[in-house]
Amino acid sequence: MKRKGFIFDLDGVIVDTAKYHFLAWKNLANSLGFDFTEIQNEQLKGVSRVESLKKILAWGETSVSEEKFQELMTLKNTEYLEFINKMDDSEILPDVPRVLDYLKDNNQGVSLGSASKNARIILEKVNILSKFEAIVDGNDVSKAKPDPEVFLNAATAINVKPEDCIVFEDSVAGVQAANAAHMISIGIGSQDVLHEADYIFNDFTEISTEFINKLINN
Ligand code: BG6
Ligand code: MG
Repeated sequence: MKRKGFIFDLDGVIVDTAKYHFLAWKNLANSLGFDFTEIQNEQLKGVSRVESLKKILAWGETSVSEEKFQELMTLKNTEYLEFINKMDDSEILPDVPRVLDYLKDNNQGVSLGSASKNARIILEKVNILSKFEAIVDGNDVSKAKPDPEVFLNAATAINVKPEDCIVFEDSVAGVQAANAAHMISIGIGSQDVLHEADYIFNDFTEISTEFINKLINN
Protein backbone atom coordinates (compact mmCIF):
# COMPACT_ATOMS: atom_id res chain seq x y z
CA MET A 1 0.00 0.00 0.00
CA LYS A 2 1.11 3.56 -0.70
CA ARG A 3 1.41 6.09 2.12
CA LYS A 4 -0.96 9.00 1.64
CA GLY A 5 -1.63 11.92 3.95
CA PHE A 6 -5.10 12.26 5.45
CA ILE A 7 -5.73 15.71 6.91
CA PHE A 8 -8.73 16.26 9.14
CA ASP A 9 -10.36 19.56 9.93
CA LEU A 10 -11.63 19.54 13.53
CA ASP A 11 -14.77 21.63 14.12
CA GLY A 12 -17.71 20.05 12.29
CA VAL A 13 -15.66 17.08 11.04
CA ILE A 14 -14.38 15.24 14.12
CA VAL A 15 -16.72 16.87 16.63
CA ASP A 16 -19.82 18.99 16.25
CA THR A 17 -18.29 22.07 17.85
CA ALA A 18 -19.60 24.14 14.92
CA LYS A 19 -22.86 24.39 16.91
CA TYR A 20 -21.00 25.80 19.94
CA HIS A 21 -19.18 28.39 17.81
CA PHE A 22 -22.55 29.41 16.35
CA LEU A 23 -24.22 29.73 19.78
CA ALA A 24 -21.37 31.74 21.26
CA TRP A 25 -21.17 34.13 18.27
CA LYS A 26 -24.96 34.49 18.20
CA ASN A 27 -25.08 35.42 21.89
CA LEU A 28 -22.33 37.95 21.28
CA ALA A 29 -24.16 39.51 18.32
CA ASN A 30 -27.42 39.59 20.32
CA SER A 31 -25.63 41.39 23.17
CA LEU A 32 -24.61 44.03 20.62
CA GLY A 33 -28.22 44.39 19.47
CA PHE A 34 -28.36 42.40 16.24
CA ASP A 35 -28.63 38.84 14.97
CA PHE A 36 -27.42 36.70 12.06
CA THR A 37 -28.77 33.61 10.33
CA GLU A 38 -27.60 30.03 10.01
CA ILE A 39 -27.01 30.71 6.34
CA GLN A 40 -24.67 33.59 7.23
CA ASN A 41 -23.05 31.26 9.78
CA GLU A 42 -21.82 29.01 6.93
CA GLN A 43 -19.44 31.87 6.07
CA LEU A 44 -17.92 31.67 9.56
CA LYS A 45 -17.07 27.98 9.36
CA GLY A 46 -13.37 27.34 8.90
CA VAL A 47 -12.65 31.03 9.32
CA SER A 48 -10.35 32.25 12.12
CA ARG A 49 -11.68 33.92 15.26
CA VAL A 50 -10.50 37.38 14.17
CA GLU A 51 -11.97 37.11 10.67
CA SER A 52 -15.24 35.74 12.09
CA LEU A 53 -15.69 38.73 14.40
CA LYS A 54 -14.90 41.15 11.55
CA LYS A 55 -17.63 39.53 9.43
CA ILE A 56 -20.17 39.54 12.26
CA LEU A 57 -19.58 43.21 13.07
CA ALA A 58 -19.97 44.05 9.38
CA TRP A 59 -23.31 42.18 9.27
CA GLY A 60 -24.47 44.21 12.26
CA GLU A 61 -23.10 47.40 10.69
CA THR A 62 -21.25 47.94 13.95
CA SER A 63 -17.74 49.26 14.39
CA VAL A 64 -15.79 49.07 17.63
CA SER A 65 -12.42 50.26 18.96
CA GLU A 66 -9.44 47.91 18.85
CA GLU A 67 -9.72 47.52 22.61
CA LYS A 68 -13.41 46.58 22.42
CA PHE A 69 -12.64 44.20 19.55
CA GLN A 70 -10.17 42.29 21.75
CA GLU A 71 -12.68 42.29 24.59
CA LEU A 72 -15.36 40.76 22.33
CA MET A 73 -12.94 38.06 21.13
CA THR A 74 -12.22 37.12 24.73
CA LEU A 75 -15.90 37.14 25.66
CA LYS A 76 -16.78 34.81 22.78
CA ASN A 77 -13.96 32.42 23.54
CA THR A 78 -14.82 32.33 27.25
CA GLU A 79 -18.38 31.29 26.48
CA TYR A 80 -17.19 28.82 23.84
CA LEU A 81 -14.80 27.21 26.33
CA GLU A 82 -17.67 26.68 28.77
CA PHE A 83 -19.24 24.40 26.14
CA ILE A 84 -15.90 22.72 25.41
CA ASN A 85 -15.20 21.98 29.05
CA LYS A 86 -18.35 19.86 29.21
CA MET A 87 -17.33 17.70 26.24
CA ASP A 88 -16.33 14.05 26.37
CA ASP A 89 -15.77 11.24 23.87
CA SER A 90 -19.53 10.81 23.31
CA GLU A 91 -19.29 13.94 21.13
CA ILE A 92 -16.97 12.41 18.55
CA LEU A 93 -18.99 12.22 15.35
CA PRO A 94 -20.12 8.76 14.16
CA ASP A 95 -17.50 6.53 12.53
CA VAL A 96 -14.66 9.05 12.84
CA PRO A 97 -12.73 6.62 15.12
CA ARG A 98 -13.33 3.77 12.65
CA VAL A 99 -11.76 5.76 9.82
CA LEU A 100 -8.87 7.04 11.97
CA ASP A 101 -8.08 3.52 13.19
CA TYR A 102 -8.26 2.08 9.69
CA LEU A 103 -5.81 4.70 8.40
CA LYS A 104 -3.42 4.09 11.28
CA ASP A 105 -3.60 0.29 10.90
CA ASN A 106 -2.73 0.74 7.23
CA ASN A 107 0.26 3.00 7.82
CA GLN A 108 -1.25 6.17 6.43
CA GLY A 109 -0.20 9.66 7.49
CA VAL A 110 -2.83 11.34 9.67
CA SER A 111 -2.74 14.98 10.72
CA LEU A 112 -5.03 17.73 11.89
CA GLY A 113 -5.44 20.96 9.91
CA SER A 114 -7.66 23.31 11.88
CA ALA A 115 -8.10 27.07 12.17
CA SER A 116 -8.90 26.71 15.86
CA LYS A 117 -6.58 27.83 18.62
CA ASN A 118 -8.52 25.49 20.90
CA ALA A 119 -7.77 22.35 18.84
CA ARG A 120 -5.52 20.54 21.33
CA ILE A 121 -7.79 21.12 24.28
CA ILE A 122 -10.78 19.75 22.31
CA LEU A 123 -8.85 16.68 21.12
CA GLU A 124 -7.80 16.05 24.72
CA LYS A 125 -11.35 16.46 26.03
CA VAL A 126 -12.69 13.87 23.60
CA ASN A 127 -9.63 11.68 24.15
CA ILE A 128 -8.51 11.41 20.54
CA LEU A 129 -5.27 13.44 20.53
CA SER A 130 -3.02 10.35 20.30
CA LYS A 131 -4.60 9.31 16.98
CA PHE A 132 -2.85 12.19 15.20
CA GLU A 133 0.73 12.10 14.05
CA ALA A 134 0.80 15.89 13.79
CA ILE A 135 -1.39 18.80 14.81
CA VAL A 136 -1.41 22.03 12.82
CA ASP A 137 -3.87 24.56 14.22
CA GLY A 138 -4.68 28.25 14.50
CA ASN A 139 -1.58 28.81 16.63
CA ASP A 140 0.72 27.69 13.81
CA VAL A 141 -0.52 29.66 10.81
CA SER A 142 -0.65 33.28 9.76
CA LYS A 143 -3.15 32.99 6.90
CA ALA A 144 -6.74 31.86 7.43
CA LYS A 145 -8.55 29.34 5.18
CA PRO A 146 -9.27 29.61 2.19
CA ASP A 147 -5.51 30.15 2.11
CA PRO A 148 -3.90 26.68 1.82
CA GLU A 149 -1.22 27.37 4.48
CA VAL A 150 -2.73 25.21 7.23
CA PHE A 151 -3.04 22.16 4.96
CA LEU A 152 0.39 22.62 3.37
CA ASN A 153 1.90 22.72 6.88
CA ALA A 154 -0.15 19.67 7.90
CA ALA A 155 1.26 17.78 4.88
CA THR A 156 4.84 18.82 5.64
CA ALA A 157 4.40 17.75 9.27
CA ILE A 158 3.70 14.15 8.20
CA ASN A 159 6.18 14.23 5.35
CA VAL A 160 3.68 13.66 2.53
CA LYS A 161 3.58 15.69 -0.70
CA PRO A 162 0.47 17.93 -1.07
CA GLU A 163 -0.69 16.04 -4.17
CA ASP A 164 -0.72 12.84 -2.08
CA CYS A 165 -2.99 14.36 0.57
CA ILE A 166 -6.71 14.07 1.16
CA VAL A 167 -8.58 16.65 3.26
CA PHE A 168 -11.82 16.17 5.20
CA GLU A 169 -13.65 19.49 5.59
CA ASP A 170 -17.11 20.76 6.55
CA SER A 171 -16.60 24.38 5.49
CA VAL A 172 -16.61 26.20 2.17
CA ALA A 173 -13.40 28.07 3.10
CA GLY A 174 -11.75 24.76 4.02
CA VAL A 175 -12.73 23.01 0.80
CA GLN A 176 -11.34 25.99 -1.12
CA ALA A 177 -8.12 25.82 0.92
CA ALA A 178 -7.73 22.09 0.15
CA ASN A 179 -8.35 22.71 -3.54
CA ALA A 180 -5.84 25.58 -3.53
CA ALA A 181 -3.29 23.20 -1.98
CA HIS A 182 -3.92 20.74 -4.87
CA MET A 183 -5.16 18.11 -2.45
CA ILE A 184 -8.23 15.90 -2.81
CA SER A 185 -11.08 17.62 -0.97
CA ILE A 186 -13.77 15.63 0.76
CA GLY A 187 -16.72 17.68 1.96
CA ILE A 188 -18.52 16.47 5.07
CA GLY A 189 -21.97 18.02 5.01
CA SER A 190 -24.48 19.09 2.42
CA GLN A 191 -24.06 19.02 -1.33
CA ASP A 192 -25.66 22.48 -1.62
CA VAL A 193 -23.00 24.12 0.52
CA LEU A 194 -19.91 22.07 -0.32
CA HIS A 195 -20.31 21.59 -4.09
CA GLU A 196 -16.71 22.71 -4.75
CA ALA A 197 -15.39 19.54 -3.07
CA ASP A 198 -14.13 16.55 -5.09
CA TYR A 199 -16.37 14.20 -3.07
CA ILE A 200 -19.18 14.94 -0.61
CA PHE A 201 -20.62 12.77 2.16
CA ASN A 202 -23.17 13.59 4.84
CA ASP A 203 -20.91 12.03 7.47
CA PHE A 204 -18.25 9.36 8.01
CA THR A 205 -20.80 6.52 8.19
CA GLU A 206 -21.06 6.91 4.41
CA ILE A 207 -17.32 6.53 3.88
CA SER A 208 -16.58 2.89 3.10
CA THR A 209 -13.34 0.97 3.45
CA GLU A 210 -13.43 0.45 -0.34
CA PHE A 211 -13.54 4.20 -0.87
CA ILE A 212 -10.61 4.76 1.50
CA ASN A 213 -8.62 2.03 -0.26
CA LYS A 214 -9.31 3.76 -3.56
CA LEU A 215 -7.97 7.04 -2.15
CA ILE A 216 -4.86 5.27 -0.89
CA ASN A 217 -4.12 3.41 -4.11
CA ASN A 218 -4.94 6.11 -6.66
C1 BG6 B 1 -12.63 26.79 12.88
C2 BG6 B 1 -14.11 26.99 13.01
O1 BG6 B 1 -12.33 25.42 12.93
O2 BG6 B 1 -11.93 27.45 13.91
C3 BG6 B 1 -14.46 28.46 13.09
O3 BG6 B 1 -14.79 26.39 11.93
C4 BG6 B 1 -13.65 29.13 14.21
O4 BG6 B 1 -15.83 28.62 13.30
C5 BG6 B 1 -12.16 28.85 13.99
O5 BG6 B 1 -13.88 30.51 14.23
C6 BG6 B 1 -11.30 29.45 15.11
O6 BG6 B 1 -11.55 28.74 16.29
P1 BG6 B 1 -11.11 29.18 17.73
O7 BG6 B 1 -11.40 27.95 18.57
O8 BG6 B 1 -9.65 29.49 17.68
O9 BG6 B 1 -11.92 30.36 18.11
MG1 MG C 1 -14.73 22.85 10.27
